[in-house]
Amino acid sequence: MTQPPAGRGIRIAGTGSSTPDNTLSNFDLEKILDTSDEWIQQRTGIKTRRVVDQSTGAGTISLACESLANAVEDSGIDPKELDLVICASVTQEMTCPSASCRAAHHVGATNAAAFDLGAACSGFLYGLNLADTLIRQGRYKTIAVIGSDAMSTVLDYTERGVSILFGDASGAAIVTADDDPSRGCLYQSMGADASNWQCLYLPKREVDIPEADRDNPIEMGKLRMNGREVFKFAVKKFQEVIEDALENSGVDIDDISQLICHQSNLRIIESAREKLGLEKDRVYVNIDRIGNSSAGSIPLCLDELNKAGRIREGENVLFVAFGGGLTWASSLWRV
Ligand code: UT7
Repeated sequence: MTQPPAGRGIRIAGTGSSTPDNTLSNFDLEKILDTSDEWIQQRTGIKTRRVVDQSTGAGTISLACESLANAVEDSGIDPKELDLVICASVTQEMTCPSASCRAAHHVGATNAAAFDLGAACSGFLYGLNLADTLIRQGRYKTIAVIGSDAMSTVLDYTERGVSILFGDASGAAIVTADDDPSRGCLYQSMGADASNWQCLYLPKREVDIPEADRDNPIEMGKLRMNGREVFKFAVKKFQEVIEDALENSGVDIDDISQLICHQSNLRIIESAREKLGLEKDRVYVNIDRIGNSSAGSIPLCLDELNKAGRIREGENVLFVAFGGGLTWASSLWRV
C-alpha cells in the first residue's frame, strides 16, 4: 500500500500492557543450562525476562485480558464501543474460543467481533495494519489490537540456543477513527517468505518436523529455531522494510521521533539504528528487562513509551517487525 485513503484519520486512543511478576534472570538460567550471563548479554542484550506462573493458570489469555483492560482504561472508551478485537499470538492456549473472544468478554466488549491472528512476532503489526485498513474503509470505527505471548510455555529449557532469548508479555492498543485525516497509518507493508519456515517453528506432530531436523530429539510443542539464519534474515529485512517505508511515505528519517522495533535481539536492533544513524533515545529498547516476547514485544514498547509521555501528538512513529513464517511488517504512524 502506498498512500492512505484521504478523508478519515485514525488515532491511537489508548494503550495497555501486562507482564508477569516472575523474573528469570541470566543467573537463573546459568543454574539449569550450560550458559553464562556474559554470553547472553553479549549475544542478545538480555539480562532478565518475565515468565508466567503456569501453576496459577496464567498464560497468553490472562496476559491478553489484562493488557486489553489497561488499554480500555487508558483510552477512556466504553468497551461497548469496540467493534472488533484482534489478538495476535503464537502461544494460543485454546483454538476455540480464541484469546480475543476471552479478552473481549473480560472487558465487556459485547458489541465486538473477535478473532486471533497468527504471524508470530510480526502478528501485532499485521493486526494494527489490518485495523487501520478497516477503519479507513469506514466499516469499523474502533478496534482493539492485542499482541500476547507466553513464550515460556513453549520453550524447552534444556535448549540453550532458544530458551535464553524469550520471555512473556502482552500489549494492546485501541485505535479509533479521527476527524483529522493527517493522523493515522501513513504507510504499511507486510510480507512472508514461507520457503524459510523451517528456521523457526513449533511442531505439534512428528510430521511437522522438517527432514533436516528428523535426527534431533525434538519435544513436541516446543519452539525450534535456527538462530543464525533468523539473525541474518532479520538484519537484512529490517533495513529493507525501513528504507521501503521511508521511501514510499516520503517521510524523512529525521522526522521519525521513535523507531519501535520488535525486541528480537539487541544486536539486530543496534544494527538497524547504526545504519540509520539514529540516536539511542529514538530507538526504544526494553529487551534487557523483558527478553523477546514475540507478538507482545511491540505493543509493550508502545505502552511503555506512551505511559512515559513519549508518544506525542503529531509526531511520526515507525514500527518494524519480523518473525516466524518467516514474516515481516512495517507500519508508519502520525500519532
Ligand atoms: O523473534 C524472532 C525470532 N528469533 C530471533 O530473532 C533470533 C535471532 N538469532 C539470535 O538472536 C541469535 O542467533 C542467538 C542469540 C539465538 C544465538 O546467537 P549466535 O551469536 O547466533 O550464536 P550461534 O548460534 O552462532 O552459536 C555460537 C556458539 C556455538 O558454539 P560453537 O559451535 O561456536 O562452539 C553455540 O553452541 O555459541 C554457542 N551457544 C551458546 N553458548 C552459551 C549457543 N547458545 C548458547 C548459550 N550460551 N545460550
